[in-house]
Amino acid sequence: MSNARSTAWDIYSQSKPQRRKTNARGEVTWFNWTQYPDHGPGVDVLNLHPGEGALDLGCGSGGNTAHLATLGVRSVGIDLSAKQLAKARERWPDVDDMELHQADALTYLKDTSTIFDAVYSVFGASWFTDPGQLLPPVRARLKPGGVFAFSQRPAVEGCYGCQASYIPRGPDEDPAIVKRWDYDPGVWERTLKEHGFVDVSASVLAPPSGSRRTGTLFVRCVQGG
Ligand SMILES: C[S@@+](CC[C@H](N)C(=O)[O-])C[C@H]1O[C@@H](n2cnc3c(N)ncnc32)[C@H](O)[C@@H]1O
Repeated sequence: MSNARSTAWDIYSQSKPQRRKTNARGEVTWFNWTQYPDHGPGVDVLNLHPGEGALDLGCGSGGNTAHLATLGVRSVGIDLSAKQLAKARERWPDVDDMELHQADALTYLKDTSTIFDAVYSVFGASWFTDPGQLLPPVRARLKPGGVFAFSQRPAVEGCYGCQASYIPRGPDEDPAIVKRWDYDPGVWERTLKEHGFVDVSASVLAPPSGSRRTGTLFVRCVQGG
């Protein structure tokens, strides 16, 4: 797969170091919902049990996907970027129950026949896909009662809907551009309910104490059957 979006994410991948070898607790795999290390909710929000299946939309270098696999979850990660997936395969070569595919989120969701117990996205494809297109196939591929959760940067006040994200390329080149979708928590709650999700919560989590940077939009809901 090679198109402008996968190329843009390959460029992004080259600028990102691999995840740390261990987290602050000395664990070699862990789940991280926010842009800050050792911060935010845990994997428990997905309500998964060993033997169940989860789908990571825009898994990047696979840290969260690998962590779920080590918990005995059948863990599928999909990503547009071959370079991101190469990093995931290099970093997690021996993790059983982890499947990685190079695919666009919408295409994968429409093509797969698997029903997942949870679907999630951490600063991933759910941020970079029109929710009007994404939410119906997510709901279709999620079991009734299964959790859909995602995180991303909060919207800039007044800048809602489709926005441009710039991925720096180099000093003499224009940045690569991808589209992202930003809304306030209340709009996410309404939109998810309109698409058949229940128990919807959306909020901006505070950054780590003492930080003057932005928080994290965190959204969790359940497939309403
Ligand atoms: C900011 S990175 C986050 C990666 C990872 N979830 C993490 O927490 O480190 C965004 C990822 O989403 C992937 N992505 C963006 N749009 C996508 C789409 N439509 N389908 C699949 N992957 C996508 C990109 O290739 C990139 O790896």
